[in-house]
Amino acid sequence: MLTLEGLDVWRGPSQVLRGIDLQVRAGEIVALLGTNGAGKTSTLLTISGQLRPRAGRSTLEIDGRRHDLAKLDPAAIVGLGVAHCPEGRQVFGGMTVLENLRLGAYLRDAAGVPADLEAMFGLFPILAERRSGLAGQLSGGEQMMLAIARALMSRPRLLLLDEPSLGLAPQLVEQIFTTIEEIRANGTTVLLVEQNAALALELADRAYVLESGAVHLEGQASSLAADPRVREAYLGLGPTAVEAVL
Ligand SMILES: Nc1ncnc2c1ncn2[C@@H]1O[C@H](COP(=O)(O)OP(=O)(O)OP(=O)(O)O)[C@@H](O)[C@H]1O
Ligand SMILES: [Mg+2]
Repeated sequence: MLTLEGLDVWRGPSQVLRGIDLQVRAGEIVALLGTNGAGKTSTLLTISGQLRPRAGRSTLEIDGRRHDLAKLDPAAIVGLGVAHCPEGRQVFGGMTVLENLRLGAYLRDAAGVPADLEAMFGLFPILAERRSGLAGQLSGGEQMMLAIARALMSRPRLLLLDEPSLGLAPQLVEQIFTTIEEIRANGTTVLLVEQNAALALELADRAYVLESGAVHLEGQASSLAADPRVREAYLGLGPTAVEAVL
């Protein structure tokens, strides 16, 4: 569905992505891992058209047609079925929950919107209770749910999720991850950026680990979770801890 080939991206004077090769197949959950500043957010911003590659290709294949994302503006990319749920749950605090959700559907014709709102309230019941409240008055976890639901209102085929667990209590993180599984079951492919490598590798089919803007490791999530390099650097399990677990 999505193919990145040899992607080089610069932000100001610095190169932030170096020859990124990455694939997401229809129906997959793919995790994108890496330490702070590795280039995870920059990768998502490039896919959604908010950063432009200096070299390489970013293509989306839909119904047998290939689209060169680097030539399209962000609205056209949303129109093709790619939704980006940004880092830091950027909801519109001065607008209600319902208004935020309607904004997510702004590129669609209005016909299916009421049904999709109901679907979002089914996925996140707390948003139904808060529908008339201001988004700025929701808790951190509720704002995250609203940000995900708003992205889903564009009926994406591919959802780009940037750090959905950041700053949330463990119980809420579990809930969000369960919802990501449901989102995939409903037919949306997911590219998930996460700092919580342990949880992401449990959920994902495959994963990529970025380091300094380049792909450092990639593979099946289960093999990466067992890889000593991943365990030490990203799961916080040193050699001694690994022995203790085994
Ligand atoms: N607006 C910006 N202008 C210039 N450079 C930036 C900007 N935002 C990020 N960078 C740099 O780009 C590189 C990659 O950052 P990016 O945000 O993609 O990493 P990340 O993996 O998402 O990190 P984090 O885990 O902290 O979210 C870093 O070196 C960062 O300092
Ligand atoms: Mg980031």
